[in-house]
Amino acid sequence: MRMVDLIEKKRDGLALTDEEIRFVIDGFTNGSIPDYQMSAFAMAVFFKGMTDHETAVLTDAMMRSGDTIDLSRFGDKSVDKHSTGGVGDKTTLILAPIVSCLGGKMAKMSGRGLGHTGGTVDKLESIPGYKTTLTVDEFLHQVEQVGVAVIGQSGNLTPADKKLYALRDVTATVDSLPLITSSIMSKKLAAGSHSIVLDVKVGSGAFMKTLNAGRELAEHMVTIGKACGRNVTAVLTNMDVPLGHRIGNALEVEEAVEILRGEGCPDLQEVCTVLASNMLMLCNGWDEETARAQVKEAIASGRAFEQMKRWVAAQGGDPAVLDDTSKLPQAAIQHEILAPCGGYLSHMDAQKIGEASALLGAGRQTKEDVIDFAAGVVLKKKTGERVEAGEVLAVLHANRAESVPAAEAAFLGALQWSDTAPEKQPLILGIVR
Ligand code: URA
Repeated sequence: MRMVDLIEKKRDGLALTDEEIRFVIDGFTNGSIPDYQMSAFAMAVFFKGMTDHETAVLTDAMMRSGDTIDLSRFGDKSVDKHSTGGVGDKTTLILAPIVSCLGGKMAKMSGRGLGHTGGTVDKLESIPGYKTTLTVDEFLHQVEQVGVAVIGQSGNLTPADKKLYALRDVTATVDSLPLITSSIMSKKLAAGSHSIVLDVKVGSGAFMKTLNAGRELAEHMVTIGKACGRNVTAVLTNMDVPLGHRIGNALEVEEAVEILRGEGCPDLQEVCTVLASNMLMLCNGWDEETARAQVKEAIASGRAFEQMKRWVAAQGGDPAVLDDTSKLPQAAIQHEILAPCGGYLSHMDAQKIGEASALLGAGRQTKEDVIDFAAGVVLKKKTGERVEAGEVLAVLHANRAESVPAAEAAFLGALQWSDTAPEKQPLILGIVR
């Protein structure tokens, strides 16, 4: 088989056979297919697409390109969640204790933040002592004992995706449905869970800017996950505005604690209830009503919060900072941003607000940047609210005074104003089962 023939075949819009797709992925992973041929192939896929069957085979080949985690000891109880990435998205910190105290087994590998989006691993590292690296044996032992472990992506999982994603990033081939689907799903399948809930974010702070694009991705990922033998549900959630009120690593841990104590932002509570319920419907076989009731009870009774402390302690973190969140990293500067005018906040560009937070030190511009765990933005007003001139819109948390003016400008540039109240947007935009 010759790579040039397969590029030509895809360029001409023909479907590849299973053997041909496996030849491409194996060859690219072992280095016998060079980057320039793989780039041409990715561009051919970008323009000509792939059938669902081709995408399933591509996903499977990428999943098998490296190690996979065997969670079969947990039977149907293993359950994972994946977010396509957003601003203020601390849902894993909230879902992991809720789902695991209700019988789900969460062996979760999470990512770091890059650019305007945050990453769960960075948030967890803001808890003093929390170890985001465990051996596979330690990881699985903790899931057995505690019900949950969350670590960074480690080992040799999906090396084909690592190489291909880096190539797509610099060849304008990221925005291809079969390539995004296979990239996300190969990682989730390699991580081993029997059930997977995909949180597909839609809006200004998300990768998918429109509902149609989000729905198409969700449907593809559910189809491919099922074709690969997993239980998959996708929840389309609104990311046109940051999730919750706090953006930044330690700030988001604090907000997760608020939710687990039954307090905090109702929007964040609702998104977490829907995601947790859908996870429990898959792994426990519950109906929606039972799942919602159990989630609410786990929070109201304090069981979910106690489970968060057990999980954090098992991973070396100091659970005392969860009882007293003032012990989390705190910023030296708290700068209030005042409303320059009165009116309704008609839109907050979530990506720009994520960028403002990253400028303060909460995120990375390059992979090598060091995170300031205390930095970030606390929103005092959100889309739809009426604001008087001079009222506090947000508080910037920073340790570097010189970062504040640019972050303030970015924050104010993210806002749009109107004289009338904007229509309220739904939080949950759809569910694909
Ligand atoms: N996230 C991924 O992991 N892969 C993609 O292709 C896009 C988003």
